[in-house]
Amino acid sequence: MEYLFHIFGCQMNEADAEVLAGHLEKMGYSPTTAESEADLILLITCCVREHAESKVYGKLGELYSLKQQNPHLILGICGCMPQQEDVARKLETRFPYLDLVFGTHNLPDFPKLLAEVVATGEAVVEVLGTAGLVAENLPRARRDKLKAWVTIMYGCSNFCTYCIVPYVRGHERSREAEAILTEISDLASNGYREITLLGQNVNSYGRDLAGQPDFADLLEGIETIPGIARVRYMTSHPRDFTDKLIGVIARSAKVCEHFHLPVQSGSNSVLKAMNRGYSREQYLELVDKIRSAVPDAVITTDIIVGFPGETEEDFALTLDLLREVRFDTAYTFAYSPRSGTAAADWPEHLSKEEKNARLRHLIEVVNEISLERNLPLLDQTVELLVEGPSRTDPARLTGRTRGNKLVHFVGDSSLTGKIVEARITKVQTWSMHGEQSGLSR
Ligand code: SAH
Ligand code: SF4
Ligand code: F3S
Repeated sequence: MEYLFHIFGCQMNEADAEVLAGHLEKMGYSPTTAESEADLILLITCCVREHAESKVYGKLGELYSLKQQNPHLILGICGCMPQQEDVARKLETRFPYLDLVFGTHNLPDFPKLLAEVVATGEAVVEVLGTAGLVAENLPRARRDKLKAWVTIMYGCSNFCTYCIVPYVRGHERSREAEAILTEISDLASNGYREITLLGQNVNSYGRDLAGQPDFADLLEGIETIPGIARVRYMTSHPRDFTDKLIGVIARSAKVCEHFHLPVQSGSNSVLKAMNRGYSREQYLELVDKIRSAVPDAVITTDIIVGFPGETEEDFALTLDLLREVRFDTAYTFAYSPRSGTAAADWPEHLSKEEKNARLRHLIEVVNEISLERNLPLLDQTVELLVEGPSRTDPARLTGRTRGNKLVHFVGDSSLTGKIVEARITKVQTWSMHGEQSGLSR
């Protein structure tokens, strides 16, 4: 029996996919990359923006003919979309050929739900209204042998007014520190070199567990685990980035000098309407503190344009903030109203075209600054964790700097998993070229 996943959305879904794969492999399934050979196809979905949902609807339509040809195929959908009960109902009626529909809160029940579909041949739709306790010791079939996701907390309690995540992932729930440290030690014994700590707001880790270490303490605990070379985390919230945390990161040999700090907007009135909990001035102060403690910090961000009420002046303030901070890169989005969120009921005064025009302008500025930020790296030596053959140019290997920048270089594939030094020979907006200059470890 073979399974295939279509994964949409963020790292939370990537991590969930590894748990679902773990369950399936325990049940005797093995992975396939060919849809025609699969006995089970599962769509692990995202609803953060309308575009993410449209991709899922498109895929579901496409799978209809496969389901016709192969009536034994079990077709399922899970993740953030069906966690909204109205969407689950809509999926059930619009796509009656779906065999299994369940939400993010039902993840631990997946084996039971699948067994029910297999046993009865009937469709199963189950969406739990609230998240259960944090489940430990879930099976996990990890996709990578070098880099591992480690979920440290689930959900989000921030309720930014544009964002659906708290509604589809539940309130903030932290895992016990001990369970996290044990998982990372096991990963290190199994040869993993890099871990990424996952959560929607990692720097509020532990707030819901009285007497637990906070995020900075957790990082200090991880620092002592031998074998792990690099520690990353995402996503951190600018409001909760404490001086203590900056200090721990500055002293750490393992935590990478990459700060992903979603700012969303450069205008105080928009930030307030978004319920972000910081002002432009506070954000700039945070960037200053980080750069004085970690001079080679790579700082990246997320930005939304066209939020309800965003004027030309507000947008100009966002562009101005980009130029002031000089982000290494930014993920940019046009605001997409999400039903159920606070902002969904606010009048939008910008058309799709106007939002897209702002987005294009923003991307131009982001790219211009990215290239400027990369230029000083020319001829410099950087530390790379080698990930394997480059996807775009199989003659080269790809590695990532500690700042998460991509470097392609000529080298033997046996270097995969090693840390090497490379001299940068060519700089572009999105990636760089280099040549190996130092020994691996
Ligand atoms: N927890 C993270 C990431 C959440 S989703 C954080 O707080 O930053 C990733 C990004 O999607 C957000 O940072 C935001 O920029 C964008 N996003 C979320 N909801 C959106 C919406 N309704 N429209 C457009 N972009 C959105
Ligand atoms: Fe969404 Fe805000 Fe939570 Fe991030 S912090 S997941 S943007 S509500
Ligand atoms: Fe999307 Fe869910 Fe992540 S809505 S961004 S997959 S938490």
